[in-house]
Amino acid sequence: SLLLFTAVFILTADYIKNRRPGSFPPGPRAFPIVGNLFTVDYNRTHESLTQVTDRYGDVYSLRMGQTWIVVLNRFDVLKEALVDQGDVLADRPNLPLLQDISQGLGVIFSNGKIWKQQRRFALSTLKHFGFGKKSLKPVILEEFSYCAKEFKSHKGKPFDPHLILNNAVSNIICSLVFGHRFEYGDEKFMELMSWFGKGLELEASIWAQLYNSFPLLMRRLPGPHQTVQHIWNSVKDFIRVEVKEHKHNWDPSDNRDYIDCYLSEIQMEQGPENLVVCVFDLFLAGSETTSTTLRWAFLYMVKYPEIQAKVQAEIDKVVGTSRQPSMEDRADLPYTDAVIHEIQRMSNIVPLSLPHVTTRDIRLGGYTIPKVMTIIPNLTSVLFDKNEWETPDAFNPGHFLNPEGKFVKRAAFIPFSAGKRVCLGENLARMELFLFFTSLMQHFTFSMPAGVKPVMDFRFGITLSPLPYEVCLTSR
Ligand code: HEM
Repeated sequence: SLLLFTAVFILTADYIKNRRPGSFPPGPRAFPIVGNLFTVDYNRTHESLTQVTDRYGDVYSLRMGQTWIVVLNRFDVLKEALVDQGDVLADRPNLPLLQDISQGLGVIFSNGKIWKQQRRFALSTLKHFGFGKKSLKPVILEEFSYCAKEFKSHKGKPFDPHLILNNAVSNIICSLVFGHRFEYGDEKFMELMSWFGKGLELEASIWAQLYNSFPLLMRRLPGPHQTVQHIWNSVKDFIRVEVKEHKHNWDPSDNRDYIDCYLSEIQMEQGPENLVVCVFDLFLAGSETTSTTLRWAFLYMVKYPEIQAKVQAEIDKVVGTSRQPSMEDRADLPYTDAVIHEIQRMSNIVPLSLPHVTTRDIRLGGYTIPKVMTIIPNLTSVLFDKNEWETPDAFNPGHFLNPEGKFVKRAAFIPFSAGKRVCLGENLARMELFLFFTSLMQHFTFSMPAGVKPVMDFRFGITLSPLPYEVCLTSR
């Protein structure tokens, strides 16, 4: 009878917890204990979450195990929440899987004073090395030369560009934080890159949801959620070695990179582990994202050869073949710029942004969202909104061009999210994408191996990545 009493007690408590108060955002019926955990298709979570709006509107709630979340959809709602009421949404929730690894340190998952200090410091260091005197532009263009050489070595035969691209793009962030690049094919580095992909995929899997919903239980059980911890710890070990070497030959009068700046400016106020987590954050966020976007770029170019030819013609006319493209060329390359924007819109690589949390009660869309509520900003619902885009599901550079062919900005273009937590690397990512993409188009023509059609399907993780593929790159 004790067992029966306990079961009735748990179910009653769960039933009470399961009810949505009148002013709380609506949502699908939540089941006892697990809530809506199994109503989402974790292979296409962003599409699942967008579909729910058909029935429950742009502000709705789900109960993931024991945790309620609110999903925000469409431009007006996201702008009102992230920008107009940005102060209330500047924090990240305490998700066990993420907290285990970041321990409240670093930039991406920290809050309050640590976050403010680290974000400001990272932005000023990025500005100094990325756009200031020691510009990253030559670093990006030099990296492109290595990458092009590697691509050329395939002599137009089919190959999978994934690892080379990953290595090339990561080298830019490595120059920034570590002060050096890694040779293509460096075994340790390649292993690290493959961990990033796997780690991000697992972070968005059902295992991560289960871990975040039932941390005490899941910590004791084996499964892929344990692999995630192992993966991130290995990345941190790799960073610790770099930090140790920096400390060993540190010269306060010559700051070579982010780690040096950190050692001299912040003087380890937050402790040595904070530096490791900060580097981890910049390294992770700065590697996977831009290279995934470029992998999509290759696919879109082979799928639409006529668009590829138009981009090449514009680059040939404005830049020519004898010099490397520069950021100053962007204003004269409206079509190319529009194509890059459309690649980012369609590839939608961070489809659900990163989670935020309310620090006070807020009103949104006619509902009251209480404080300490996890908020998911659904960027997919904005980037594919039929009210914002003429042909939301079709690749159409015209979305960013006026009838005269001039580039036009679109407010609903928010792949970097918006508000206080907007992507810290947005300017760097845009520079990398522009310089890499234009240089690639200047040097190569992209095509699929004979008889193969491009597959535009994705693998869902925190980032959406294309399935592995081979392409042919012919020198122009
Ligand atoms: C955060 C997108 C490249 C560093 C984010 C967020 C998105 C995003 C959607 C979450 C914003 C939010 O919470 O509302 C992208 C895309 C990229 C890209 C689409 C490339 C195409 C980069 C690069 C860096 C970077 C190159 C390198 C420095 C960060 C950091 C955060 C962040 C540190 C956390 C900011 C914070 O919590 O304050 N990014 N990102 N990202 N990104 Fe990026």
